[in-house]
Amino acid sequence: MSSKTSAYTSTAKLLHWLMASIWIAVWIVGALAVYFRDTLNPTHGLTYWHKAFASALLILLVLRVAWRVTHTPPAMPAQMTSRMKQAAHLGHLVLYALALAALPISGWIWSSVADKPIMVLGMVQLPPLLAANPDAYDLAKWVHVACAWTSVALVLGHIAMSLKHHLVDKDNVLLSMAPRFKSKY
Ligand code: HEM
Ligand code: HEM
Repeated sequence: MSSKTSAYTSTAKLLHWLMASIWIAVWIVGALAVYFRDTLNPTHGLTYWHKAFASALLILLVLRVAWRVTHTPPAMPAQMTSRMKQAAHLGHLVLYALALAALPISGWIWSSVADKPIMVLGMVQLPPLLAANPDAYDLAKWVHVACAWTSVALVLGHIAMSLKHHLVDKDNVLLSMAPRFKSKY
């Protein structure tokens, strides 16, 4: 059964896919930087680029939230129960709050207390959020690593749900975020 969802705006799609690509890339680079330090990251080049692109997500997030609150997203498929719709809204809210806000902010705090610079896209240095504090280093690191692993579980769940909508429910949820799809409804 096909549903009557309309599509996200082109700007919402552009921001979603740009941020999703950066997010997935910086997650992989962050993990490679830590777990292949001796072979791939001996001079912390991966760490530098991890921070450079991950910090750009915060700027894109401001634009995305501004766009989101001023533009209505497509209606969810009519066959979804109100409980499922609430769960989907909550999932999106947690993606914004944890994966797109708390995770980069926790990295920013970690680098601040460690007194290490963050060069946004390799060009502009972010000011520290907190003063350098070696005593807070371990806690800040723990929070960033915990946010990173919780978020990746959430993102994998998000991808699985969008595939379920497309392959099992056969509705327009995945297509509503697809680059070329324009709903007639
Ligand atoms: C301003 C933003 C961020 C800063 C400053 C930052 C900083 C860091 C630093 C310094 C490390 C350790 C790298 C090393 O030891 O060589 C790290 C690890 C990591 N970061 Fe970030 N990060 C940021 C955002 C993000 C984002 C947005 C993600 C996910 C998309 C992420 C995922 C990870 C992962 C998966 C690790 C490895 C975790 C582990 O040890 O298991 N970070 N980050
Ligand atoms: C291959 C990867 C991805 C696919 C296939 C995908 C698919 C989708 C689809 C179909 C939607 C439309 C609404 C819905 O889910 O019900 C959506 C929305 C969303 N996605 Fe993704 N996504 C991916 C990656 C990501 C990543 C990595 C993030 C963030 C870390 C993310 C964050 C979001 C958020 C916050 C929304 C809600 C948009 C809104 O209504 O404001 N997505 N995604």
